[in-house]
Amino acid sequence: MTTTTADHPTRRDFLLVATGAAAAVGGVASLWPFVSQMNPDAATIAAGAPIEVDIAPIADGQDIKVFWRGKPIYIMHRTKKQIEEARAVEVDTLRDPATDESRVKDGHDQWLVVIGICTHLGCIPIAHQGEYDGFFCPCHGSQYDSSGRIRQGPAPANLPVPPYQFVSDTKIQIG
Ligand code: FES
Repeated sequence: MTTTTADHPTRRDFLLVATGAAAAVGGVASLWPFVSQMNPDAATIAAGAPIEVDIAPIADGQDIKVFWRGKPIYIMHRTKKQIEEARAVEVDTLRDPATDESRVKDGHDQWLVVIGICTHLGCIPIAHQGEYDGFFCPCHGSQYDSSGRIRQGPAPANLPVPPYQFVSDTKIQIG
């Protein structure tokens, strides 16, 4: 004969507890793929984790797009001509005045790193298009030059430069 007290749960009590625990585990298990899928972006956004990008494969005149904190970042390997054009502009005539030098890192003039979100209404501009050999936003026609500065169209400001640094000549860390 079995007696039941709070100190001595029966086998039936144990089974009920075990079933409840299994259900809880099942709930966690079914959530996991979703959480797991969301994890990199959520973690990156929450922690603001920096990313490292190997820029060695980006040839002169080419660009790549990476994502940092869920935002598209353009890394453009500018040609000599693009740099010269960006530096020939009279800064005072610009809508959002900034020298080209202030938008790149010292000694790495060929590399432009900008957040690829149009400052008008947030579309993603296309690199190497438009009249200024920089970026063209297909939504309402804003044009940015090879320094990512707004030159034409409704956008009010330059493409922002994210925080980044050169870890070596061929690697940058964004964030
Ligand atoms: S969102 Fe780029 S021009 Fe309007």
